[in-house]
Amino acid sequence: MTDTPIDDTTMNEPPVNEIPFDILQHATLTLPDGQTADLPIVVGSEGEKAVDIARLRATTGYITLDDGYTNTGSCMSDITFIDGEKGILRYRGYPIQEIAKRCSFVEAAQLVIWGELPTPEQRHHFSDILAENSALPEDFLPHFSAFPPHAHPMSILSAMVNALQTYDLPGMTIDSDEEFERVSATLISKVRTIAAASFKSSIGEPIMYPRYDLRYVENFLHMMFSRPYRDYVPSAEATRALNLFLILHADHEQNCSTSTVRMVASGQANLYASVAAGVCALWGPLHGGANQAVIEMLDLIQESGMSTREYITKVKDRTAGIKLMGFGHRVYRSYDPRAQILKQACDDLLESLHITDPRLAIARELEEVALEDDYFVQRKLYPNVDFYSGTILTALGIPPEMFTVIFAIGRVAGWIANWKEIHDSANSRIYRPRQIYTGPNEREWINRFQRERNTTQGFIVPEELRSHTA
Ligand code: ACO
Repeated sequence: MTDTPIDDTTMNEPPVNEIPFDILQHATLTLPDGQTADLPIVVGSEGEKAVDIARLRATTGYITLDDGYTNTGSCMSDITFIDGEKGILRYRGYPIQEIAKRCSFVEAAQLVIWGELPTPEQRHHFSDILAENSALPEDFLPHFSAFPPHAHPMSILSAMVNALQTYDLPGMTIDSDEEFERVSATLISKVRTIAAASFKSSIGEPIMYPRYDLRYVENFLHMMFSRPYRDYVPSAEATRALNLFLILHADHEQNCSTSTVRMVASGQANLYASVAAGVCALWGPLHGGANQAVIEMLDLIQESGMSTREYITKVKDRTAGIKLMGFGHRVYRSYDPRAQILKQACDDLLESLHITDPRLAIARELEEVALEDDYFVQRKLYPNVDFYSGTILTALGIPPEMFTVIFAIGRVAGWIANWKEIHDSANSRIYRPRQIYTGPNEREWINRFQRERNTTQGFIVPEELRSHTA
């Protein structure tokens, strides 16, 4: 660590963040070497406070360290507000409960991306361009049969979203509002066509074309379940449940996949490439992949005949290395409001479709046992959005491998909105975190023939050379 300010090219630059209001307060940081740093306090529109450390290294030589970004605000954003302590979620200021009750997914996506509820005219116009852009190019379709039969649909989705860009060369550079709207509509519409096509390919059925006369969710269900010789007509309850699912997944501020999209966008990658990166980041079981993992957990409990209490005991016994999937969240320290809405929707859907799914009973019991258990109470672990969502998707006839794909269809809206914030910001810079290096200090090169392999520690310095490197 240097004692004096280091030679940093950013030193004379203006503060990195474009702070849209006056800085009224500062914090003073005193460092062990006696330096002090005067740090601006940034306050968000809901009163959240942050210490802006953008110039800390330039003025003191210190960086901040926050492995896993537990306490780091990576950006300022106008899109989504979450209060994890109170269980509040709002898109563009509107409470999620209100949006879930009153919106279609397409309207919610327009709200998330453009910041305002669409007028009837804007809604119809956007529906039209969604319909116009719903079909995949004919010469794109053979790609689906090139994947092996058991390819995971998330793998196919990310590859195909990225490949879409090769069919839209003008979409590489978005330089007008109209072009942004067209590329956004293409992604929102085609991601659903790709998802259904990957499902059809995986079960060896012909890919179904989208229909111009169907609305967004019905069109998706048609492409998933119709056959060339038999139309699938979804029930109103099924359409409503999927619409709700997509709305609740449309955005969730700076989670793992959205941060990835922003990271990729910050290098000025195109919208297709940025969204494809988001799909990859969503896939993991600690993030969007948890919805598939929850159903697998419920199946395991059912098939093994284990009681829910026995399963919870295994979770608490950390040596087993298993988690209660669909529980816990980095931001929520209370009930995830999306889980609350989905729990009720799950009850309603199963009742209206006259389905009895034993997994729902297991999920309810797991929740009851966990919420009374000190382990979960002390750590403030509650059901998250993924805990009940898989039961809904199962009732709609969607297989577990497709769950995270359906999540991605909803989240594309949020990824596009976040990409737009980066793209539209005059002050946007490449995302480039720093690190604290903990590897070896500079050392002497070992010639190839002089290296010895140590199976436990990797390469070691041979005895005769040790004095040279000491
Ligand atoms: N089951 C058992 N213990 C848990 C769980 C869980 N589901 N979640 C957290 N914990 C424990 C941790 O082991 C840790 O215990 P410790 O303090 O004794 O070490 C404590 O609770 C705090 O958890 P962290 O891992 O520090 O929480 P973090 O914010 O890093 O992780 C995450 C959040 C990844 C969601 C975590 O809760 C988890 O793995 N949950 C299960 C997977 C899941 O449902 N993911 C979906 C999240 S929603 C979404 O991304 C769409």
